[in-house]
Amino acid sequence: MTTALITGGTSGIGLGFARRFAAAGHDLLLAARNQPRLDRVAADLRRGHGVRVDAISADLATPDGCATVEKHLSACAVDILVNNAGLSLPQP
Ligand SMILES: NC(=O)c1ccc[n+]([C@@H]2O[C@H](COP(=O)([O-])OP(=O)(O)OC[C@H]3O[C@@H](n4cnc5c(N)ncnc54)[C@H](OP(=O)(O)O)[C@@H]3O)[C@@H](O)[C@H]2O)c1
Repeated sequence: MTTALITGGTSGIGLGFARRFAAAGHDLLLAARNQPRLDRVAADLRRGHGVRVDAISADLATPDGCATVEKHLSACAVDILVNNAGLSLPQP
């Protein structure tokens, strides 16, 4: 069994990755800031695909948020990283 860490896995492109990996039987670690949305997405993916989904509430723009994710990584092996969290800036 493999585990994928998807940052920003609760919306848009990251959620698309999360659904595809869950459908293929991978366990997931999802990292994003909004805890209620994390919990909702994790529950949907568990229910829909029977995989393990752990939700990490963390702001990856902060050292504390990165440390929170790092702490989870020391507790479980991650095989795949989708480093997706972020936003577009409408400027050159
Ligand atoms: N959509 C496009 O056309 C496009 C084009 C080029 C590049 N991209 C890049 O692709 C990635 C995803 O884009 P998207 O359109 O799918 O975005 P989106 O729908 O806004 O989703 C962004 C995801 O990242 C999380 N996130 C945002 N800031 C975060 C932070 N500081 N710490 C942790 N999680 C954070 C959000 O959850 P929370 O708000 O709960 O944290 C959400 O899960 C971005 O990096 C974007 O720059 C997108």
